[in-house]
Amino acid sequence: MSKVYSLPSHIKEDLKLVEEELLGIVASKKGKLAEASLATLKAGGKRLRPILVLLAGTINDYDLSKLMPAAVAVELIHTASLIHDDVLDGADTRRGFPTVNAAWDETIAISTGDYLFGMAFEILSKLNNPYFVKIMSEAVLALSVGELYQMKTYHSLNQTVDDYLFKIKNKTAFLFSVACLMGATLSGAKETEIEAMGKYGENLGMAFQIYDDVLDISGDKETLGKPIGIDLKDGIVTMPVFFALEEITTGECLQKVVENVNSTEEEIREAISIIESTSAIERTKDKAKKFIERALESIELITDAGTKRGLYSIGEFVIDRYH
Ligand code: FPP
Ligand code: MG
Repeated sequence: MSKVYSLPSHIKEDLKLVEEELLGIVASKKGKLAEASLATLKAGGKRLRPILVLLAGTINDYDLSKLMPAAVAVELIHTASLIHDDVLDGADTRRGFPTVNAAWDETIAISTGDYLFGMAFEILSKLNNPYFVKIMSEAVLALSVGELYQMKTYHSLNQTVDDYLFKIKNKTAFLFSVACLMGATLSGAKETEIEAMGKYGENLGMAFQIYDDVLDISGDKETLGKPIGIDLKDGIVTMPVFFALEEITTGECLQKVVENVNSTEEEIREAISIIESTSAIERTKDKAKKFIERALESIELITDAGTKRGLYSIGEFVIDRYH
């Protein structure tokens, strides 16, 4: 967590303004959907995507008034997708607070996701930039493709690490990339810099999701704000599972937990200790580090020292966090 604090100080200040704007926009609306949206946003979050918009916005001419709608819109899309994701996962808690589906119900949760999704595009349209509408729409399509792919492969061992990488590229990396592209474009960066930021965001997003999947196995419930082992319970096969299955000779218990739709808490605990008895977690963390290395390689051409330091520190944070 501490790594995020090595951001340029004006970005830290401006992030507070983004936070105020996010909460303010939703708080100004009335009704159940606004209420559920506000509760979700108030539960917090790392706000990584808005951070990326602002940081990428420092490449050339930094202008918060232009960056603000992009930062807010990208976080609203992300929040909408999490609310929908919690319905699909049947999750009761997120960030230590009840999810919308738990505190209200699934119908309200789906409508709240749609509501935020609509609001995000309304805000984005203020920038009057067809390219942003195009890449944000593509990011939303990618989110849906990634999520659908995940649903199709629940409880299935008939998938490969490449399938997993395809899924996380869609469900996570794409939106990270778009956040970077918008920030860089709004700062008036050169074409090569914009492209570099797109690659940075994509690789950072890959590392982020891989590390997120590590935390589902080796994280701490209190710090994470949600129970661990949820992916295993839901039959979502993540990188540590692939690696553990490669290593163990008697993988029956782990295989059973992945394939079984009704695994008990005890079976999940056992599956976790099987994974932890192998080098799967370490190997997975190494893969995440490789993506961070790729992300950092892509931004070698960025000349602004402050921008670069910030982007490096986000890279460090992503693979050195506890939530
Ligand atoms: C969280 O990942 C989920 C996502 C990154 C994507 C969810 C996308 C959808 C539900 C598609 C619908 C999209 C829109 C815009 C309404 P995770 O499940 O790995 O993380 P978690 O453990 O925090 O739930
Ligand atoms: Mg989920």
